[in-house]
Formats: sequence, C-alpha cells, structure tokens
Amino acid sequence: MDTQNLVFLNLILLLFIPCNCSVSFIPPDNYLLSCGSHSNASLFNRVFMSDSTFLSSDDSTSLTIQKPPQNLPALYHTARVFSGTGRYRFNMKKNGTHLVRFHFSPFKVQSFDLKSAKFSVFVNGILILSNFQPPNDVTLKEFILKVESNFLEILFRPVGNSGFAFVNAVEVFTAPEDFVVDYGARLVGPFGLVEYRNLSTKVLETVHRINVGGLKITPFNDTLWRTWIPDKDYLVFKGAAKPAVSTHTPNYQKGGATPEIAPDSVYMTAQQMNRENTSLASRFNITWNFPVASSSVGVPHLVRLHFCDIVSPALNLLYFDVYINGYIAYKDLDLSMLTIHTLASPVYVDFVTNSDDSGVIQISVGPSDLTSSIRMNAILNGAEIMKMVNDVNANVVHRRNKLWALVGPIVGGIVTLCLVATVFLFATKCRKKKPKQRTVDSVGWTPLRMFGGSSLSRTSEHGSHGYLGLKIPFADIQSATNNFDKSLIIGSGGFGMVYKGVLRDNVKVAVKRGMPGSRQGLPEFQTEITVLSKIRHRHLVSLVGFCEENSEMILVYEYVEKGPLKRHLYGSSQLPPLSWKQRLEICIGAARGLHYLHTGFAQGIIHRDIKSTNILLDENYVAKVADFGLSRSGPCINETHVSTGVKGSFGYLDPEYYRRQQLTDKSDVYSFGVVLFEVLCGRPAVDPQLTREQVNLAEWALEWLNKGMMEHIVDPHLVGQIKQSSLKKFCDTAEKCLAEYSVDRPTMGDVLWNLEYALQLQESGQQRELHAIRSASEDVSVTTTTVITGNPSTNRRTERDYDTGSSDVSTSQVFSQLINNEGR
Ligand SMILES: *[C@@H]1O[C@H](CO)[C@@H](O)[C@H](O)[C@H]1NC(C)=O
Ligand SMILES: *[C@@H]1O[C@H](CO)[C@@H](O)[C@H](O)[C@H]1NC(C)=O
Ligand SMILES: *[C@@H]1O[C@H](CO)[C@@H](O)[C@H](O)[C@H]1NC(C)=O
Ligand SMILES: *[C@@H]1O[C@H](CO)[C@@H](O)[C@H](O)[C@H]1NC(C)=O
Ligand SMILES: *[C@@H]1O[C@H](CO)[C@@H](O)[C@H](O)[C@H]1NC(C)=O
Ligand SMILES: *[C@@H]1O[C@H](CO)[C@@H](O)[C@H](O)[C@H]1NC(C)=O
Repeated sequence: MDTQNLVFLNLILLLFIPCNCSVSFIPPDNYLLSCGSHSNASLFNRVFMSDSTFLSSDDSTSLTIQKPPQNLPALYHTARVFSGTGRYRFNMKKNGTHLVRFHFSPFKVQSFDLKSAKFSVFVNGILILSNFQPPNDVTLKEFILKVESNFLEILFRPVGNSGFAFVNAVEVFTAPEDFVVDYGARLVGPFGLVEYRNLSTKVLETVHRINVGGLKITPFNDTLWRTWIPDKDYLVFKGAAKPAVSTHTPNYQKGGATPEIAPDSVYMTAQQMNRENTSLASRFNITWNFPVASSSVGVPHLVRLHFCDIVSPALNLLYFDVYINGYIAYKDLDLSMLTIHTLASPVYVDFVTNSDDSGVIQISVGPSDLTSSIRMNAILNGAEIMKMVNDVNANVVHRRNKLWALVGPIVGGIVTLCLVATVFLFATKCRKKKPKQRTVDSVGWTPLRMFGGSSLSRTSEHGSHGYLGLKIPFADIQSATNNFDKSLIIGSGGFGMVYKGVLRDNVKVAVKRGMPGSRQGLPEFQTEITVLSKIRHRHLVSLVGFCEENSEMILVYEYVEKGPLKRHLYGSSQLPPLSWKQRLEICIGAARGLHYLHTGFAQGIIHRDIKSTNILLDENYVAKVADFGLSRSGPCINETHVSTGVKGSFGYLDPEYYRRQQLTDKSDVYSFGVVLFEVLCGRPAVDPQLTREQVNLAEWALEWLNKGMMEHIVDPHLVGQIKQSSLKKFCDTAEKCLAEYSVDRPTMGDVLWNLEYALQLQESGQQRELHAIRSASEDVSVTTTTVITGNPSTNRRTERDYDTGSSDVSTSQVFSQLINNEGR
C-alpha cells in the first residue's frame, strides 16, 4: 500500500510539477572510511572518518606517509595494512543495490613499500578482487552489488609472498532506486538479441566510465561522486566524430534516466557524425574501442549507453543503429520514442556482451537505413562498461520471441516492444514471415514518415488491397461532415477534433481529424490504421476508413450511438443511471473485446489506454473498446526492435509499467480494474477536487475494500440493487486487477470469466447456475480466490463472439462515436 501511495503521489507530481531533479541524492547507508587514520579527511567535499570502529580483526596496523607529495589529498596520507585476514563490518539500513569503492595509493615508509602488496578482496563472501597488485598511482576500484542482509562484510586476504594487504579508503553507500534493474537489458552477440535477466544479482566492476564528446567530470560534479573521462582516446577514427554541446540542462522525464544515472554534463555533450568530413564515405559509423583485460575473455560485461538528443531540431528526425563488438545491439533507435515526446530528454540502454579475445569492447553508432541522407546522424552521450565479477556464463533466455512480446523489456525508460509507429518495419519484417499479410501491411508509411506527412501517390496503385482499400477521398469526408461543420463536433482530444458525419451510403460515422498540417499524432494515426484494419470484433469499435490526402490525417469509425461509458456513469444528469446488470454486461463486453485483443486472431495487441472514455456504448448498451492510437502490437518473428515511452492516462496507469517501463497486457488489466471501480462507484478515476485520500479512485477503493466496507462507496444509484455475493466477486476481481505486480494480476480471460460469474451470482445467487458455464469438475470455492487460466468455456465463447462480431459489422448499421475529452 505504501509503495502504491508513493507511485500515485509521483504521478500527481508528474502531472502538476516538472521533474525536480536538482535535489542531491542522500544515500540511506553511507560509510566513508579514511583507513589507518585517527582523524577525518575530506575529499571532494566528503568527509571520510577513521576506520577503527569498523575494523573487526586485530592483524592490522595503520601507516602514515612521512613526506606526502604536495598535491596528494590527505585521505591518501594514511593506509590500513593487514598482515593476516582483515575485516570491515558495516550495519546496513537498506537492502538493495550498493556501491562499494576502494581507494589504493601505495606509498613507502622507510623500507616498507605498499607497492609490493598482493591480495584478494571479498564482499559478503564473494571474491571481487583476485590477486590484486595496486599500481603506482591512486587507483579506485568500484563495485556495484546487491546487499540482502543486515550487514556488509569486507575481507582483505594477503596472497603469495607479499604477506600483506592494504587500503587507503573505503566507501560503501546505497545506490539510487532502480540503479540496476532486472528486466530489459539486451544480450548482444552472435545469437541475435535476447533479453538478459536478473542484472541486479550480479556483482559489477566498473571498467570504463566515459563522458562522450565532453570533458572530464570529477566527483565534485557527479551525483554519485563518480569520475567520467573524455572519449577521445578511444575513438577509432577521430575524424568521424564531431562533438555536440548543449547549454540547456536536460529535460529529465519520468521513466527516463535521472541525474543519478548520469549527471547533467554527460547528457549535455555528445559525439555525432562528422558529416563535414568529405574524406569519409557517405554513410559511416563512429566507433570506439575500449580495452578490457585479457583475463576477461568470455566474461559478460554490462555496457550502459547514455543518450540525449541534443542535436536534432525537432522530434523523430534522428534514427540510428547501435553496434557492440560488431553485432547489432539496437536497430533504428529513435530517441523520441523512448521519451515522452520531448527533445533533449536523457535515456540509457543496458546491453550485456561477452568480451571476445580482441582485448577491446567495441561500440559503434551509425545511421539507420530509415533516414534519408540529409537527416543522417548518430549520437552517443555517455558509455559505461562494467565487468560481471561473479558470472561466467551469461544467462541466456531462450524464449526470445515470447519474451520480447510479453516482457516488454525496458531499460531506464525504454520499452522494447514492436515499434508499431514505424509501421514500415512492422510491414517489411512481418512480410517475410507472413506472406499472406503482405497486402494488409503493405507499403506506404515510411515515406510519410521521412518526408513529413505528405500523401503518397504510389499507394493508390494498391488501393483495393488491405487497409489501403479503406481509403476515403477527402471530398467524401468533407461532404459527410458538411465541410467540418463546427456544430457536428462531438469531441476533441490530443489528436484533434471528432465530427459526426453521414457517408453517401447513409452510414453514420465518427470522423476524427488530426490537426491539419501538424505531424503530432502521426504514429498514433498509423498505429490505429494498422491495428484496426486487421481486426473486427463485436466489442471493438471498427474502422470504416481513413484519409491521408493533402497532409490530412483522418480516421473514420463506425458511429457508436450512446457514446462513452463515462458519460453514463457520472457527470450527466440527463442520462438515466445504468442498472447493476447493465453495468456488469458492459464490463463483460469490454473485457471480451480486450481479451480478444490480447489473445485473439490479431494476437498480442496491448491497448495501453483503457479508460471509461474509450469504452463506447451502442444503442443497445453493447460495449465497444475504442481508440487504439496508443496500442502496441506484439512483435513479429525475428523482431529485433522497438521502443516507446510510458504513455496512457493519468489515474489508469499501471504503476509497474510506470516504474519499470515494462509494458505487458497486464497493464491493460490494471487500467481495466480502475474502470471496474469507476463503474461500481460512479466517480472519475481521478478527481482533483476531492481530499488527498480520495483523489485517486484505485487507491481509495482499495482502502475501503481492505476495511471490508465497500457498500460505503458504491454509487448511490445502485444501493439496494447489488447482491452481496455479486458485489464481492466484482470487488475481488477489480482488486486483483489492481495488484501491484503484474504477475499477480489475472489475465483478461480470467477477468472475463469472473465478471460473468458476478453476473450469474447477481441473477441467481446460486452456484448451480455457475456450473452451467464452467466444466463441472472445477472447484467453485477455489475459483473465487484464485486466478484461473485457460478456461475452456471462455475460449469457446470468444471464438463465437468473433464470428458474430464480423457478421455484425458487415451487415448492421454500425455507428460510432469517438469522444475524447481528456486528450492524452
Ligand atoms: C568526523 O566527521 C564526523 C562526521 O562528519 C563527525 O561526526 C565527527 O565529529 C568528526 N570527527 C572529528 C574528530 O572531526
Ligand atoms: C534484508 O534482507 C534480509 C534477507 O532477506 C533480511 O534478513 C533483512 O532483515 C533485510 N534487511 C532490511 C533492512 O530490510
Ligand atoms: C532470475 O531470478 C529469479 C528469482 O531469483 C529466478 O527464479 C530466475 O530463474 C532467474 N532468471 C535467470 C534467467 O537467471
Ligand atoms: C564542477 O564543480 C565545481 C565546484 O563545485 C564548479 O566550480 C565547476 O563549475 C563544475 N564544473 C562543471 C562542468 O559543472
Ligand atoms: C576526416 O577523416 C579522416 C579519416 O579519419 C581524418 O584523417 C581527417 O583528419 C578528418 N578531417 C577532418 C577535417 O576532421
Ligand atoms: C557499422 O558497423 C557495423 C558493425 O561493425 C557494420 O555492420 C555496419 O555495416 C557499419 N555501417 C556502416 C555504414 O559502415
């Protein structure tokens, strides 16, 4: 409950206050030791304390340099020397990822030379430094590891003839939240792209930390007191790169990188393609070689790349490819899609690669095939390379296709699902595997994307095939809407206006017109066409056609007579309140539509914007799910690709998706849970006019549910109508949908079945009835508390539904109305 509160609080902040990212990070655990010293010493404004209280072994002495060089910081004037096994022990306040740093600065006291030390270091039993011999200069060793105990123990053990170990300073502090996340890292190599899981369980040793295109950043200027060094010495062809500098602080976005991930200065500089250099080919990569130890051959490394588009004049102009060790690591990376449509917004992507015998990890960025030669560019702002100390075999997850579909891997704000927006890729790649769909997915949208929304003459050649057959001439739309008569406006949204219209064959339609001349919403426009042209279902609003003439983006839908569910729930005194049975039937219908999206013929479509304004009611109060502009399609076979930022509507947004940027069909389940409570309580998902505890419906309803006092918040119109058993079933279902973690949420199929059960309970109150829709052997009492998957009766009904759905659409007067008062 606490974390949920926190998430919602964050959401409110997100909505009303720009990200306040300048507040410096204060780690809960923060130990800074000046080893071998009795007094404090400071370095970069941080005070390091005497280590004596943390020592838990007697085999040690402290040593002080006699004539320190003038510019040697006081911290390095002393050292702790261990002649046997030495131990430091720290009490930990917090479990989770921590940073551990060791400072080594060998010096000589009379004939005793610290340089001859040779030792190993263990942290909580894990060997992290083996047979280490500190070099001459001040050397820092940094490790990032997860602590899951109340203490952290560091152990120094001399090896070989040296007979001793030493250290000058030790830092142990908590890493920021989500510094290393378990999902979404991409394993790059000859086997193609797969997801690398459980990153946080690895012990990482920092090998390189680079401020690409910029200057050295000292711990003074870094939020986690790190040092970043310039990239110049690692460039393979210096002439290929040209530094870019921004003078504005980056636009940090929720779901993207934070200043703790990397400081402003990393994101404010970059290298880009030096296209003025005429001695280079027209297309070329920028390549860096970062040396790794020869002993690291075959060892997995985390490559964390930082990006912030400080070079483009507008969104969606920069597409580029990223390669690691010559393998494709990210194809057609579009930074605009990784952020919430904001330029200069920092993101990072985690890759895992096994180092080979070349002695380097090679990183390249180069132009994507999608970009025209005028726009061609590629950038990199920062790079970190970390060796996995405790992992010899990378954990390859083999179920790759499934994984990319379901996990929606993300990294610091990066959802890696099929990028439906670039319909082109979808089309070309799917085409190879699914020749039958060639005409449906067809050509056309890439040039649109490249040349700025102009219409395409060549698509008309294919006019009779697939969704191109849905093209409607602009003149027809003008006449259907009386030339976009203002009095016919039935809604407006982020995309533009929605008009009621009548086509020449007397079919009533809803016409959604994108702002003329604006490219905003183009990806949504394309998505909606690709998604809707492929599906027909009784509970999904259907697309009648579209128009892209004269740079117009117009979508024409069936007109759905009674409009959005929301208007029938609250805020309109003219409309009669819906009965409990009607409400249940509407929820069941919408659940069926969603279940079909997730699992039906079209497979794996995630709606991403489920809310009561996007569920429409026809003249018979049959629910139809609408507005597929944000939906994401499951990836095709061999899809290597994708991206998106957190999108959706406030109040309905899955907190896990929001936190982890991990998009799955369970995010729709969450939003649907909010709709269920909206239906039950007859109030908006978010009502800023209410008191703090009441603002957020999901939070508020769960609280009352926990108190077992649901009757108190039920829509007054329903009082006396709902049978207790039906209410309980309904609330249990809604509650499960709102589970904090997506794994704990039911599938849409389960939700559907449970809602049907709630309806049965309402109608009869007897379990006998229930057996009619379930196979008799299943234990009813269990099903009320557990999630049931793969219910055969549900599947059967869905198939039937689909059949009736298609015939309904082709024969009946289909009506649609698209009202989107809220925008996105
Ligand atoms: C050392 O620093 C700590 C923490 O800043 C402080 O509490 C302590 O008084 C200092 N000790 C001395 C001897 O200055
Ligand atoms: C950390 O996790 C360990 C093991 O799960 C547990 O015993 C300990 O109490 C936890 N510590 C904190 C501070 O939560
Ligand atoms: C990741 O960790 C979870 C929980 O510890 C474990 O069940 C799973 O097998 C791990 N996955 C991999 C790929 O190591
Ligand atoms: C780094 O920090 C120092 C001291 O706070 C400051 O004077 C300097 O301007 C900073 N440099 C950058 C690049 O921010
Ligand atoms: C152009 O690139 C070549 C090859 O890397 C390099 O030698 C040359 O210095 C570059 N010229 C400029 C103007 O950067
Ligand atoms: C960039 O590097 C990759 C990997 O080495 C290579 O496959 C690709 O052809 C290069 N692109 C260009 C334009 O040179």
